[in-house]
Amino acid sequence: MGNKNLLCNICGSYAQFSQALEFTGVTCCSQQMQELEAILEFNEKHTPQVSVKGSRVTVRVGAVDHPMEEDHSIMYIELVQSDKAQRIYLNLQCHPVASFILDTLMPFEVYAFCNIHGLYKTSAEVPPRR
Ligand SMILES: [Fe+2]
Repeated sequence: MGNKNLLCNICGSYAQFSQALEFTGVTCCSQQMQELEAILEFNEKHTPQVSVKGSRVTVRVGAVDHPMEEDHSIMYIELVQSDKAQRIYLNLQCHPVASFILDTLMPFEVYAFCNIHGLYKTSAEVPPRR
């Protein structure tokens, strides 16, 4: 499960590749892109906050909303469940919030990518129905 997330330390471009593919290195700006490791430690402005209602998952980035400014913003929010990834790109007019629909009741992971502070991850499960 999951993908490799890559970042160019020169221009800030990012890319993602399936871990199922043979990974031999990707270059940007004539240098090899850096592989991003997801940060699991709680961070007030970056850790994805997940709420689940039925099959709908709403993700808010940060217990306090992350800034959405030209030089510092959340670029995307992604939900990964089993071998399927759903990614929503945000623009500066957006709040750092996204909604997804789950296909199954399996556990899932949510990622949020800040252009300055990196990739944050939260794991979650679908709560049992009452
Ligand atoms: Fe940030």
